[in-house]
Amino acid sequence: MTQQHGLDDESRPVVPPIVLSSTFAFPTADAVARAAEKKQPALYSRWDNPTVEALERRLALLEGAERAIACASGMAAISLVFWGAVRSGRPLVVQRELYGGTHEWVQTLLPSFGTPVTRVGIDEIIPVVADFKEPVVIYLETPANPLCRLVDIESVKRAAPPDSVVIVDSTFASPINLKPMRWGADLVVHSATKYLAGHHDVVAGVVCGNGTWMNELWYLRKLTGPVLDAEAAYRVYRGLETLELRVLRQNETALFIANRLVQHPRVRAVYYPLVFGNTDKSLCERTMTGGGGVLSFEINGSSSDALTTANRLRLFEHAPSLGGCRSLVTWPAGVSHVGLTESDRAECNVPDTLLRLSVGIEPKEVLWADLEAALQ
Ligand SMILES: Cc1ncc(COP(=O)(O)O)c(C=O)c1O
Repeated sequence: MTQQHGLDDESRPVVPPIVLSSTFAFPTADAVARAAEKKQPALYSRWDNPTVEALERRLALLEGAERAIACASGMAAISLVFWGAVRSGRPLVVQRELYGGTHEWVQTLLPSFGTPVTRVGIDEIIPVVADFKEPVVIYLETPANPLCRLVDIESVKRAAPPDSVVIVDSTFASPINLKPMRWGADLVVHSATKYLAGHHDVVAGVVCGNGTWMNELWYLRKLTGPVLDAEAAYRVYRGLETLELRVLRQNETALFIANRLVQHPRVRAVYYPLVFGNTDKSLCERTMTGGGGVLSFEINGSSSDALTTANRLRLFEHAPSLGGCRSLVTWPAGVSHVGLTESDRAECNVPDTLLRLSVGIEPKEVLWADLEAALQ
């Protein structure tokens, strides 16, 4: 690598170079064939790419995993784990409260593979998985989009039949707030578009884990092609440099705002794991560093009151994402969960009076002033 950049043996780049090459040259035709046979890295960038690998090594370290596989989006990473689950031949148990895109995958694509799927609400996961006799694949999301409910990964893993595989979408938590593998998860998925990259300037995803499942997922990525591009990989890598600083500040700001909202007369309910009286408060305190930068709340009134409040905000941008430096507001019933039928939305507890906030790194008092004015 250093030679490619004209540097001598004593110096090296401090950040990973962006290697744009789609293919890598070898001295002879049979050397290419040998490399292809060994699935050697740096052969062809749909297989592996040095910049993407630098990011993957760092993500694996952050999650405490042997290996990470970076993908073109969070949904690409989720598609790989669902394909892996289908190919494992095991029944799937899927949490009901999920990001809308994942929910749509479960509802519209999974049935075409013929895999038996049991969808189950957060509070019933443990007894449901305990009832299975054979190993299952369990798909969880914690905190779950958009109500920030938590799942007790350790108890789910303990209740599941031996050799079951637990997959956790940990996008909302980021590796700063939660290390799912420490609590028994086998695979961890992130939309790296969110906290990992952190600046609203890249779409990316990752799966982290150990062992044969990761070999299978690498194979599926190679075959189906949702690889991360080297420039995008660099932007995620760069975002990771400030991940902890950003997330700790976002934890503090979100808790501050959640506690203020709880006391506001125009607010019917606040959904944030660390507010007083929240069902998941003790689980959050035991297993997570903080509650994260996303919180949701319901307006006292109708859906149009919720929209009016959102429209009065000046600092929160109206945009469908989370986890970046800029604060965002969304109306989940019309955005992240718009692909769901009304009854599915009711099942997932996404009322149309709900607003979801993703706090950025702006001063917390300034954000609260904006919210307070909008709630007048
Ligand atoms: C929890 C969660 N998982 C996955 C995704 C999908 O990620 P991406 O948009 O990077 O495909 C999202 C997107 O909002 C999400 O909120």
